[in-house]
Amino acid sequence: MKLSLIVARGRNNVIGVAGQLPWRLKSDLMFFKKVTLGNPIIMGRKTWESLPKRPLPDRENIVMTRDWTYDAPGARVYSSFLPAVNAAKAIAAREGKREVFVIGGEAIYQLALPLADRIYVTDVDAAPDGDAHFPALAETEWHEAAAEHFAISEGNDHAFTIRKLERVHASTPASTDA
Ligand SMILES: NC(=O)c1ccc[n+]([C@@H]2O[C@H](COP(=O)([O-])OP(=O)(O)OC[C@H]3O[C@@H](n4cnc5c(N)ncnc54)[C@H](OP(=O)(O)O)[C@@H]3O)[C@@H](O)[C@H]2O)c1
Repeated sequence: MKLSLIVARGRNNVIGVAGQLPWRLKSDLMFFKKVTLGNPIIMGRKTWESLPKRPLPDRENIVMTRDWTYDAPGARVYSSFLPAVNAAKAIAAREGKREVFVIGGEAIYQLALPLADRIYVTDVDAAPDGDAHFPALAETEWHEAAAEHFAISEGNDHAFTIRKLERVHASTPASTDA
């Protein structure tokens, strides 16, 4: 079972401004839907509240908040990250899925990055002002398994590249035993 992050970031690592996305990238939203559909998605309370339509349909929505009384109709609410991930994985396994997604924002990416197996990162060719950022990636820890470029077009404010990054696992040292 894989824990995957999915994010769109600017060249300056900006991912959000005033609780919203800083760009309009229709093709990236279509990619997001295609990849996450049918799988559990974990998000922070602020990202949940930024969704134009809640919950995101045909996906188990899991919301992180420290407020135990928080009500998120149509979603499950968790106050600790590991129990949320474990619940997401159990739900995915029950549905015959092999991947759960962390969909942001900044606070939840920070919790998830050390545990992530895979990142779908959309590198946006822009550096907008913003107040939410993706953590810096140590590129040596990640291997690019796929990349697709999109030009500026109707509905896409900027050019961007969607990259699929897999974590590089340290190889086991060779045995010195004879
Ligand atoms: N470009 C992208 O791909 C992308 C994706 C997603 C979001 N975004 C953007 O990112 C911004 C939101 O990011 P954000 O960092 O401000 O908010 P966020 O991560 O969506 O949500 C933060 C909230 O999560 C809860 N939380 C954080 N750490 C927690 C923990 N350890 N345990 C339990 N709950 C915890 C808290 O909720 P309470 O305050 O209720 O306790 C906190 O206020 C928005 O602008 C959004 O549009 C961008």
